[in-house]
Amino acid sequence: MSVQQSLIELPFDLDQQRIPAHVAVIMDGNGRWAKNRGLPRIVGHQKGVDALKDLLRCCDDWGVKVLTAYAFSTENWGRPAHEVEFLMTLFERVLRRELEEMMAENVKIRFIGDLKALPESLQAEIAHSMEKTANNKGIQFNIATNYGSRQEILYACQAIASLVKEEKIQLNDINEELLENHLYTKGLISPDLLIRTSGEMRLSNFLLWQMAYGEIYVTQTLWPDFNRQEFRQALLDYQKRDRRFGKLNQ
Ligand code: FPP
Repeated sequence: MSVQQSLIELPFDLDQQRIPAHVAVIMDGNGRWAKNRGLPRIVGHQKGVDALKDLLRCCDDWGVKVLTAYAFSTENWGRPAHEVEFLMTLFERVLRRELEEMMAENVKIRFIGDLKALPESLQAEIAHSMEKTANNKGIQFNIATNYGSRQEILYACQAIASLVKEEKIQLNDINEELLENHLYTKGLISPDLLIRTSGEMRLSNFLLWQMAYGEIYVTQTLWPDFNRQEFRQALLDYQKRDRRFGKLNQ
C-alpha cells in the first residue's frame, strides 16, 4: 500500500504522525462469540481468521508497520484435543489458502514461538510461508504460535548461559540488547500498542519483556466482531496517551 493511499484511507480523526509502528493483538473471545449464537467454538475461530485478515489489511492501509497476533499459547495445549487439532489444521489451511494473496500484498510473514512442537505438516507450511515472503517489503505480520513469553525468556537465559560457559562472552557482556537478540522477536521493534478483545485485563504470557513500555487497550468486543471501527477507537484512545517511557515530559 503506498503512502498516498494510506493517507486517503486513514479516518479523518486519526493523526497520521502518531500511528503506532507495531500493534500486537490478543484475539480473545472466539469461543464466547460462538456460544452466544449456539454454535460450536470452532466456528468462532473460523470467524476469528476473517477478523484477523481484516485487521492486517487495515494496519497496512493506515501505516502500521508490524502486526503481531497471539494465535496459540504454550498453555493452549490444555484445551480439548479436538479443539487443538482443529486450530492446528486451521492454521495450516489458512496459510496455504492465503499465501498468494499475502505475496500480492507484499506481506512479510514470521512465526514466533516454539515451532518444533507443532505438527510436522504445519511446520513445513510455516517454513514455506516465511521463506517465500522473506524479501517482501510491506507490512511485517508475526503470528505467535506455541508462544509463551516466560519460556521465551528462559530459552534466552539458557542460550546466554551457554555462551558464558563456553567463554564466548563475559558476564559483563550481558545487557538488554544481548537478551533481546536471543528472544523470538529478535530484530523487531517493541509493540507500541497491545489490543486485547473480550474484556480481560491481562497479558496472559504474551510479550512480557517486549511490552515493558507498550500501551494496552482492552475492549469488551469479542474477537470475531473486531473491525475497522473498533481499531479506529483503539487508535484514537492510543493517540490520547502521554507516553513518557519512565521519564518526565518537558
Ligand atoms: C482465543 O479465543 C482464541 C484463540 C486461542 C485462537 C485464536 C486463533 C485465531 C483467531 C485464528 C488465527 C489464524 C491464523 C492463521 C493465525 P477463546 O477460544 O479463548 O475464546 P473464549 O475466551 O471466548 O473461550
